[in-house]
Amino acid sequence: MRHTDLGATGLTVGELTLGTSALGKQSLPGSPEEAEAVRVAAAFLTGPIPLIDTSNNYGDGRSETVLGLGLAAVGSRATARIATKVDRDPVTGAFGRDRVLRSYEESLARLGLDRVEILHFHDPYSVTFAEATAPGGAVDALRELRDAGAVDAIGIAAGPIPLMTEYVETGLFDVVLSHNRYTLVDRSAEALFTEARRRGMGVFNAAPFGAGILAKGANSRATYGYVDAPPELVAWIARAEEVCADHGVPLAAAALHFSLRSPLVDSTIVGIASIPRLEQLLALHAVTVPDALWVALDGLGPAPTPLAAQDAQDARDARDAR
Ligand SMILES: NC(=O)c1ccc[n+]([C@@H]2O[C@H](COP(=O)([O-])OP(=O)(O)OC[C@H]3O[C@@H](n4cnc5c(N)ncnc54)[C@H](OP(=O)(O)O)[C@@H]3O)[C@@H](O)[C@H]2O)c1
Repeated sequence: MRHTDLGATGLTVGELTLGTSALGKQSLPGSPEEAEAVRVAAAFLTGPIPLIDTSNNYGDGRSETVLGLGLAAVGSRATARIATKVDRDPVTGAFGRDRVLRSYEESLARLGLDRVEILHFHDPYSVTFAEATAPGGAVDALRELRDAGAVDAIGIAAGPIPLMTEYVETGLFDVVLSHNRYTLVDRSAEALFTEARRRGMGVFNAAPFGAGILAKGANSRATYGYVDAPPELVAWIARAEEVCADHGVPLAAAALHFSLRSPLVDSTIVGIASIPRLEQLLALHAVTVPDALWVALDGLGPAPTPLAAQDAQDARDARDAR
């Protein structure tokens, strides 16, 4: 596993980070499903991938709870660290200063930790950018936590590129986490990552499989980026699969290495919720992708991704609502 500096944060990350949005999802406390999820968490915590990404709201808190139980089980054998995110109030949608502080307290209680190194501002869609960045707002609260030494680095973690760009351009964040927008089929985060790099920020690229279809293939009927994949995108992925097969490389390996090989990305976050998937990830990581495959994939031309148009529409809606 290649290790790298996370921008100018002074922190080091591995080229892979484990994403746990599905870990422990819908498992009940004390159930066999919870016990299995804790076994998986323990494998993550003692495995070769040095960082685990979670959030206050993944599985309504179950991801953090299961990771906390895993940490308690493995004790000093833990080799991986945990990064988490603050989330809006699940009932009211409130996402001001008090909610940020409360969210972080909840996360630490579930994880059984007294701090984490990296804390992201997650999916701030229930507040406007102006509200979040106003004095005494959510972003101030994150800055307060960093200034007090309660965390080392604060990040912005969300989807739409226009919104992400606004947050990056505040210069207040140390790290950016984008998802589904820097993959084999979507390059819309490229300018965002370039700007983050220019500012010395760390860059996490999440969801290199588009949340599934780039690992499972065009016939899987998987969505891309949590929305239905349009037929033209499915057709493009089917062609890419053939090109990959011609070069003896699984589509999933090409999708993973697209992100791993980019100088714009410090760490690629992959969603994993079982031990077999972890083993498959390590095997995909070990695949050598010939340069000729990248040339051949470029030859397919740009993929018809649905997210850029959706992001632009979201930005227009947000402007109209102001
Ligand atoms: N706003 C944010 O901050 C944000 C947003 C999105 C994601 N993230 C983070 O990034 C992580 C990754 O995102 P993601 O999970 O949505 O997308 P992803 O990593 O692109 O895809 C994960 C999916 O790919 C499938 N998969 C993984 N390995 C596979 C393999 N070897 N063969 C076939 N299928 C495979 C898994 O399906 P199975 O269910 O079949 O195992 C899993 O559901 C999340 O867990 C989260 O930590 C953060």
